[in-house]
Amino acid sequence: TKIWALIPAAGIGSRMKAELPKQYLEIDGKTILEHSLSKFLDHPSIEKVVVALNPEDKHWSKLKVANHPKIKTVEGGATRAESVLNGLKAIQQHDGANDWVMVHDAARPCLDSGSVDALIQAGKDSEHGAILAIPSVDTVKLANANQTIDKTLNREQIWLAQTPQYFQVGQLADAIVAGLKQGLPITDEASAIEAQGMHPALVIGTRKNIKVTEPEDMMLASVWLAGM
Ligand code: C5P
Repeated sequence: TKIWALIPAAGIGSRMKAELPKQYLEIDGKTILEHSLSKFLDHPSIEKVVVALNPEDKHWSKLKVANHPKIKTVEGGATRAESVLNGLKAIQQHDGANDWVMVHDAARPCLDSGSVDALIQAGKDSEHGAILAIPSVDTVKLANANQTIDKTLNREQIWLAQTPQYFQVGQLADAIVAGLKQGLPITDEASAIEAQGMHPALVIGTRKNIKVTEPEDMMLASVWLAGM
C-alpha cells in the first residue's frame, strides 16, 4: 500500500494568543510545523506529504522544507475538515483513491516513529482505519449549559483522540463529504467515519503526543522534543 501523510496547517491558532499562527512558532530553532513534518519526511513508509496551507499564508515559503521533493501543498479551507478534504482531493487526482493516508495535526510536533509504525500495523487489520488515542486518566464529566455537571461518563470507555488518524483515502474523502453535507461537526477524521456507521480501531499512543494549543504547551513540547 502507498501511504501518504496529510497535514492540515491552515488554522490561525487563535487560542495561542501569539502574533504567528501556532504552527509557525519555533522550538529549538525549528517551527512546530517543521518538527511535525520531519516525522513523516524521515519515515521510510511514507511516500509523500501533503500540507494544507491558509491561502494568505506568508510564512511557509520562507521555510527550508518548502522545496522538499516529498512535499506537495494545497490550499486549506474554512474548517479543518475542509482543509483535509482539499488535501484528499489532491491525492485522488494522483490516482491515490485506494492509497492510505495519515492525517496529522500540524500542532503535534512530538509524535514518535513507533506510534506511526503501530498505526500502519493496525491499518492492516482494520477495514475502517485506525487512530492514535490514549485511555483517559481523568474522570470525564458531561456538562449542562450552565456549567454544572449533568453526569459522569464511565472512564473505562473514555479515550482521548490524537493524530495521526489513518484511513483509506477514498473512504475518508467520501465520509467527510457526507458529513459536511449533513452539517455534522467534524473535529477529527474518525468522527466523519463513525458518522457513516464505521468503527475505526483505537491504537494506544503516548502522552507526549500533545497538541500545542495554549502558551504553556510550548515548554512541554520542547522538553519532549529534546528527549527524542
Ligand atoms: O484548531 P485546532 O487546534 O483544532 O486545529 C487542528 C489543526 O487543523 C491545526 O494543525 C490547524 O492548522 C488545522 N486547521 C486547518 N484549517 C482550518 C482550521 C484548522 O488546516 N480551517
